[in-house]
Amino acid sequence: MSKGLVTLVGGSGFIGRYAARALVEKGWRVRVACRRVHNAIDVRLAGPPGWVDVVQANIRDRASLERAVDGADAVVNLVGILFEHARQTFEGAQTDGAALLAEVAREKGIKRFVQISAIGADPDSRSPYGRTKAAAEEAVRERFPSAVILRPSIVFGPEDQFFNRFANMARFVPFMPAIGGGKTKFQPVYAGDVAAAIAGAVEREDAAGRTFELGGPRSYSFNELYDIILKMIDRPRFKIPLPFFVARPMAYISGAVWRHIPPFSWGLLGDPPLTGSQVEMLAYDNVVSDGALGIRDLGVLQLESIEAIVPTYLWRFRPYGEFHKPREA
Ligand SMILES: NC(=O)c1ccc[n+]([C@@H]2O[C@H](COP(=O)([O-])OP(=O)(O)OC[C@H]3O[C@@H](n4cnc5c(N)ncnc54)[C@H](OP(=O)(O)O)[C@@H]3O)[C@@H](O)[C@H]2O)c1
Repeated sequence: MSKGLVTLVGGSGFIGRYAARALVEKGWRVRVACRRVHNAIDVRLAGPPGWVDVVQANIRDRASLERAVDGADAVVNLVGILFEHARQTFEGAQTDGAALLAEVAREKGIKRFVQISAIGADPDSRSPYGRTKAAAEEAVRERFPSAVILRPSIVFGPEDQFFNRFANMARFVPFMPAIGGGKTKFQPVYAGDVAAAIAGAVEREDAAGRTFELGGPRSYSFNELYDIILKMIDRPRFKIPLPFFVARPMAYISGAVWRHIPPFSWGLLGDPPLTGSQVEMLAYDNVVSDGALGIRDLGVLQLESIEAIVPTYLWRFRPYGEFHKPREA
């Protein structure tokens, strides 16, 4: 017997896959809703046969959302984008989409709504990512007052976009750009711990209507994270300070190229190296604020550290991969 059904909108992505496993382990059936179901077929392996289903939905399309949440007890919104791409805009995917989903969930009588936001969600942010995440929080609260809002710092795990990206960059460049001097602070949190927090947000009565900031066991400056990554992959590199007044124009131009010029905008040439929105986010510390409710308030007491987890997947960026012998040896 299952506890009920949870729809994970955006459940085929990095965090969604961990959330699906955590919820199944807690006894929930899961319905994963995303646009490209062909990329998500293997998500069904997150649980025993029949426990995890995949359906097609677009957060900008009401009819598909109505089908996706039909019969669910809880809905988790995991849709978020790091850069704009074709018709995927920050406004459409992050704010309007969240508002529409919360409205549909309320109309369908869903009991629990969980909105995955981000530390850095701020109506005054210079980053459209941060501004639209803040607007999404407000829109969700208006339409679904008992919604639980989770704001993670950067999330790590084998499929992450942070440690993998910078480790990969170190393979090709002789120096690493320390944007803004590399002083920005982060509190990386493991994807498995975020997933446990999502399960807590779905289940716990005392979470209703609250906002939680999710961070890992300690915070690090951008420079410290570079040092850890470079040591783990045994590729010594200089860190060159890149002031914001230099990084901003470079990033805005690269973002605009990827947004508007085919075949970049068709995704044929991968993700943009850096966008204006990402640089703007780097201007602010990304750590749990004093006095905020945190991951432990959702019952996640044992937190994984980057030192324990990240080496288990960054080894592939070492010069000789799994056969690499560290230089000191
Ligand atoms: N990863 C981090 O470090 C981090 C940190 C803080 C906050 N967050 C937030 O956590 C959430 C999940 O992040 P993630 O890293 O798991 O993202 P992700 O890997 O990029 O996954 C995004 C998911 O959203 C789906 N999606 C995108 N556009 C959609 C649309 N228009 N309609 C329906 N589904 C759509 C994607 O599948 P399709 O493309 O197939 O639709 C995918 O399943 C996001 O809101 C993100 O902002 C992430």
